[in-house]
Amino acid sequence: MGTLDRRALLKLSAGGLAVRAAGGPAFVRRRTGPVPPAFSVPMRVPVEARPVRSTREADHYRLVAAPALAEILPGVRTPVLAYNGAFPGPTIRARAGRRVVVEHVNRLDEPTTVHLHGGEVRPEDDGGPMDLVEPGRARRYRYPNGQRAATLWYHDHAHHLESEHVYRGLAGTYLLHDECEAGLGLPSGCFDVPIVLKDARFGGDGSLIYIPEDFEGRNTILVNGRPQPYFRVAARKYRLRLLNAANMRFFKVELSTGDAFQQIATDRGLMEAPLTTTSVPLSPGERADIVVDFSRYVPGAQVVLRDGFSIRPSTDGILRFDVCEGVRDDSRVPERLAALPALRPATVAREFRLSMDKRTGMGFINGRAFDAGRIDFTVERGAAETWRIVNENQVVQHNFHVHLADFRVLDRGGGPPMPTEDGLKDTVMVRPGESVGVRVAFDPAFGGDYLYHCHIIDHSAMGMMGRFRIAGGG
Ligand code: C2O
Ligand code: CU
Ligand code: CU
Repeated sequence: MGTLDRRALLKLSAGGLAVRAAGGPAFVRRRTGPVPPAFSVPMRVPVEARPVRSTREADHYRLVAAPALAEILPGVRTPVLAYNGAFPGPTIRARAGRRVVVEHVNRLDEPTTVHLHGGEVRPEDDGGPMDLVEPGRARRYRYPNGQRAATLWYHDHAHHLESEHVYRGLAGTYLLHDECEAGLGLPSGCFDVPIVLKDARFGGDGSLIYIPEDFEGRNTILVNGRPQPYFRVAARKYRLRLLNAANMRFFKVELSTGDAFQQIATDRGLMEAPLTTTSVPLSPGERADIVVDFSRYVPGAQVVLRDGFSIRPSTDGILRFDVCEGVRDDSRVPERLAALPALRPATVAREFRLSMDKRTGMGFINGRAFDAGRIDFTVERGAAETWRIVNENQVVQHNFHVHLADFRVLDRGGGPPMPTEDGLKDTVMVRPGESVGVRVAFDPAFGGDYLYHCHIIDHSAMGMMGRFRIAGGG
């Protein structure tokens, strides 16, 4: 894109006028303090963490959680909570079969825990909400990486604090690679980019304002820690690893041109075959890897990644791709991506009824709020179970996440699952009044006590969370 276009756009936007992205819908300028007009700041790719030490078996990292100042809005230093000063936290790239050990240092004035979302890890490395790292202390988490390639993420999980901690920045991506995936020829290296989606509410001074359940107020969309940025892409294929790291916001990712793209992975790794689709809905905690081929656009074209769920023009636009010259592209998206484990018959059926009492601000699963001393049920290691998750609220959205295990979505209200969730999942959307059936497989080599909860973390912080035990493990 020419600087001219951008300047023209800025001028238009500054006047509070609607601007039109190439072929797309109108994006209206919002006027709230230092938040810049849409698509006026460059996107950043999250920094990558470097191991402090590598041995024959493991890569060791050190992440320090501490207050920091981040340039989120141009020219403004916003106080955040960050891992190694980065907002979002640094990306860890791991390889299947090779262990990662992360030493977490807590320099906050509150306790923290760090959970690897989607990770198959022992209970003591799971960052449970009561397994706290006190201020001034450090702790090592061990990640065996014995699972398939996937886009995972790590985030704070300290009970009652996780919601504000994650909102203020304590989250980052963890990209697990493996040989099978590497052999496919998918876009890789700098064409394999994490896209961390969040929303935030800024005060007039550029500070982040945290109010629990403030869905309405968090109306600035952030991508990799920048407000509705633009991203210069070469006219070729990119793998975009979409992560919904927002506390509450659901996104329905689509292109402003209405063009289709390919989804290649769900939460826990590659799908069987690429899905050609024009949109991917993502509730908080969910991931989807998509491949967008920008070679079909002429250099100079602008294509906006937009949110089809947005109810206001100001939050419509997520990210604008500014298509530059093409570069050589040997990458491909093969017709077969991965073999998924066969769906095993379930031996047990369970039901989880999610409900929230707006008046008291309490969240419940099966009528009970989280109690750290209570184990709600026990499953057998190696078993497969059918879980039905019901959202009892008629207005409030929920979703459902289980630690350690992965699952397949069986049905949505008796109908078929969405094609975009036809793969290995660990988090699933449950809309108001809806009921979703999933088949959970407890295959991992670990047993012990793990969590399940609504991943609208303002809700889990209010009690919509429980613990279960996997027996026969250790
Ligand atoms: Cu992403 Cu229990 O968490
Ligand atoms: Cu998790
Ligand atoms: Cu919820």
